[in-house]
Amino acid sequence: MNLLVTGGAGYIGTHTLVELTKAGHTFTVIDNFYNSKPQALKNVEQITGKPVRFFEGDLLDREFLASVFDLDKFDGVIHFAAFKAVGESVAKPIEYYNNNLTGTLNLLAEMKRCGVENLVYSSSATVYGEPETVPVTENFPTSATNPYGWTKWMSEQILQDVAKADPDFSVILLRYFNPVGAHESGLIGEDPNDIPNNLMPRIVSVAAGKIDHLDVFGNDYDTEDGTCLRDYIHVCDLAWGHCLAIEKLQHMKGVEIFNLGTGRGTSVNELIEGFERVNGVPVPHKVSERRPGDVPVVYADVEKSRRELGFEAKHTVDEMCRDAWKYYKNHTENN
Ligand code: UFG
Repeated sequence: MNLLVTGGAGYIGTHTLVELTKAGHTFTVIDNFYNSKPQALKNVEQITGKPVRFFEGDLLDREFLASVFDLDKFDGVIHFAAFKAVGESVAKPIEYYNNNLTGTLNLLAEMKRCGVENLVYSSSATVYGEPETVPVTENFPTSATNPYGWTKWMSEQILQDVAKADPDFSVILLRYFNPVGAHESGLIGEDPNDIPNNLMPRIVSVAAGKIDHLDVFGNDYDTEDGTCLRDYIHVCDLAWGHCLAIEKLQHMKGVEIFNLGTGRGTSVNELIEGFERVNGVPVPHKVSERRPGDVPVVYADVEKSRRELGFEAKHTVDEMCRDAWKYYKNHTENN
């Protein structure tokens, strides 16, 4: 397929470009480099050996967006571009709602104008709010606990309504669990502009000596070692899931929702221990208070993705730890 990829220079976007190239798709990237760098696309080119066609611009800029849609006939869109920091979204709700929702609406308007009928949307397990049981299936009730989560929830709603109104429109909502790791080349990975708050980038920052220790948010949960369980998924597995979604889109109409996770829970302590063991670096940590809003245990039911997409996460937690550290070291040496 010939695809338009919004936010293609970001963490999940770059890894997806590599997988799309492997699968023989062509694509054009748009990105405003708000939370990414042009160098990331150069590194994608180095991995794939193929040039990446990209345009710098913003989804909120209708003229820019129209000019890109007028350049080519796209068969489909993968929509990554969005703000994604939970804490920041609480402090800046207007910016988050405006960016994430207006961006999606502008994109949909252009798709309609140009007759582009296929979309893969980058959603999140955050739309499950606080699930009552695990594993979490795609038909669990949805909600959100912060403005970022609501923008994902609302975008999903918008897309479902658009699909209802237009029988030719096909959309796949991919609900990511906790993406971590990096491409094995060490050339692309997670490169947050600010001090990160998520566990893996935080572990990396501690191992690198940028922060003196990691706070483990609570060890008195009802889990085996008392720390929270999450479904960490290697970003390359996640990226491959997008290629499977693109294949699926060509044989369906309407809306389909898929979880992308491993189906297994890993505790905070296990991730720290794995990182230290695999990389041979200490990650000093201390138990601190529970983080407000944290859900004790979340992991995906991946049966539907397996059955209908042929998806299966292949990378181990050790590989996630190895690749996250490899990218950090490679990246700092080269910058
Ligand atoms: N944690 C720590 N110390 C830290 C950071 C995190 O102990 O310094 C713990 C958290 O308490 C939690 C686990 O590590 O138990 C994972 O926390 P993350 O912040 O990495 O991930 P979350 O599952 O809380 O949230 C992530 C994304 C959201 C997304 C959600 C989807 O940050 O954007 O997954 O389920 F919405």
